[in-house]
This record gives sequence, C-alpha cells and structure tokens, in this order.
Amino acid sequence: EKGGWSSFMAKEVSEEPDAVANTLRGRIRDGQVVIPELDGLDELFAGISRIIVIACGTAAYAGQVGKYAIEQWTRIPVDVELAHEFRYRDPVIGPDTLVVSISQSGETMDTLMAVKYARERGAKTLSICNTQGATIPRESDAIVYTHAGPEVAVASTKAFVAQITALYLMGLHIGRIRGSVAAADAAEHVRELEAIPGKIAQILEREQPRIEQFASWMADTRSVLFLGRHVGYPIALEGALKLKELAYIHAEGFAAGELKHGPIALIEPGQPVFVIVPSPRKSAEMHKKVISSIEEIRARGARVIAIAEEGDAAVLPKADEVLRIPLADPFFEPLLAVVPLHIFAMGLATAKGLDVDQPRNLAKSVTVE
Ligand code: BG6
Repeated sequence: EKGGWSSFMAKEVSEEPDAVANTLRGRIRDGQVVIPELDGLDELFAGISRIIVIACGTAAYAGQVGKYAIEQWTRIPVDVELAHEFRYRDPVIGPDTLVVSISQSGETMDTLMAVKYARERGAKTLSICNTQGATIPRESDAIVYTHAGPEVAVASTKAFVAQITALYLMGLHIGRIRGSVAAADAAEHVRELEAIPGKIAQILEREQPRIEQFASWMADTRSVLFLGRHVGYPIALEGALKLKELAYIHAEGFAAGELKHGPIALIEPGQPVFVIVPSPRKSAEMHKKVISSIEEIRARGARVIAIAEEGDAAVLPKADEVLRIPLADPFFEPLLAVVPLHIFAMGLATAKGLDVDQPRNLAKSVTVE
C-alpha cells in the first residue's frame, strides 16, 4: 500500500498536490465555485451572522487559516474554537450561527459532541470531512467533503491542505450567495486555488531533498520555535505541532508580533527558529515587520530558517537558511508554506530513527472524550 515509499507519511506528503486538486475537482464551473453538495441550501447561509469553526489538532489549525479569507469574503465574523473547549462554556449560539466542523476522520468524539451540542442549541451545522459517511457529516445539516484520499499516518498532512481548500471553497460559495465578494474577485481567487497543486509539486521537487538533509543535521536539536504573522501564524502552530508529534521535540509556534511580549526571552545563541515570511509584493508592511522580528532574534543569536517566496531578496542576508516557496496571494501562501514544515518534521523524525506513521501515545482518530 505504501507503493515504494518509506512510510505512509512520505507517500501522503507527496500527495499534497493531489489532495488540493481533488478537493477542487468538480467544484469549479466557468471560473466560479459551484459546490453540488450545497445545492438548494442557500437558505442555510442567508440568515447567518456568525460562523464558529470547531475542530481538534491539525484540523483546528486549518480552521485558523481559513478564518482570515472567510471573514474577508463573507464579511461574517468567524471564530475558531477547539471542540473540547466549546461546549463547556455555554457559548452564545442560535439559529443565526453556522458551526463549521472540520475533521479528517469524521469520528473525533470531541468534535462530534460539539456538533451535536450546537445542533441542540439551534445552530446550523456544516461538516468538512475526509471520510464518506462518517458520523460527524451524518450529524450535520450540510457537508463539504475533502477529497484527500485515505490518510493512514497518524499525524495529518495532506488532509490539512485539503481542509484549507474546502474552507476557501465554502467561503467563496457563501460570499457569492451573500453578494459580499464580486464575481471577478472570486474568479481571481479560484485561479489562485487552481494554481496551488502545481506550486506544491514544485516545492516537493525543488526543496524536499535539501530540507531532509538539513533536518538530519538537526537530529540532536532539543527545541525549535516557529514564528508567523497573519495567516502565517497558524502555520507556525502547525509546524510546531508536527515536530512534537513526529520527532518528540519541544516546539512552540508564536505570532511574530508577540515576540517582544514574552517569547523573545527564550532566544539564546544557537536556538533554531523557523520564520514564515509573508510576500513583500502584496503586504510590504507585514513583510517589513517580520524581517525586523528576524533581526531582533538574530541579534540574540537565534539560528533563523526562513520560509520565503522566490525572489524575496531582502530575506537572504538576514537568515541562516532560506527555504523557497513559489509566489502566491497572501491567503494562499499557507497552502505552500506548510509543505516545507511537514517535510522538515518528517525528515527530522526519520533521522532520529522514529516511526513517523505511528508516533508514540497517539491515535489516528480519538473516539473518546
Ligand atoms: C488527533 C490526530 O488525535 O486528532 C491528529 O492525531 C488530528 O492528527 C486530530 O489532527 C483531529 O482528527 P480529525 O480526524 O478530527 O481531523
């Protein structure tokens, strides 16, 4: 089943381009998003004034990425909550709330219980799920399946990019129904999405061997930090989670702007820090801010590994290593920036001789609360 790959995870990371392409397939017509599963459900989206995304683990980080674009395209406020926190605080929800659950397996008990709770409170529910006919989609008013294909490795990789893709499709769908996104803009976003599989394939082709080698040099590292801003922030969290899960290394993700409010105290000479650098073309100000974060940590001896778009020359003299990703609009950068981080965590765990498919203490689908 691994088909020549050293692990299911290696195979699944190599399938990240297909996970996006297959999630898009059949859902774009004449340059616009058309989601056949949501046909006839316009009413479900018409009266909502709030969206709450609930999920656990990697799926929750996909939700955090999705929040930025969905708010922009729908002009509906979006909150992202961990499913197991959600129903223990008497959340303010009702018929005007759309609760979007994200789950690869569709069986995660924490998420399922949160969905049931939301339904009982009269909220509308939409499930983003990778497993046909699973329990969570069956309990939901609407379903948008991700088509990442079966994911066997315990830690999620290809499902993550498929989840972001599905969230974006959903965001554009709702945005068009409500008239909050112009057809021409939606078409431009669709073009960006359609270009993603090829761009991920480019990263795998050009950067994978280098990242793996570099990860193997870091096999003795005891702690790694990840910094990101805006949509790069949840990617920093995902990079850290993957490293904990696969390589059992202490790892933390931070919002780059938060650095001076605490985490900078952690920086000592030699501390490896991954920094996700936003495009200087589309967000010059944010780019400048992230570069200045790099300067601050480097001045304190951090070893900076930057993930930056091709042609971003400003980052070169600032970082110890630069991992390149192809050009994309800001909302779409996370789909690219996460790929080097998946490769890195897998490469480091492999260099340590660990089983990347079945990390200790973890289960693929946690069906207890
Ligand atoms: C964890 C898995 O237990 O559950 C993670 O180890 C996953 O990889 C999380 O992200 C959520 O799972 P699911 O199936 O609900 O997406």
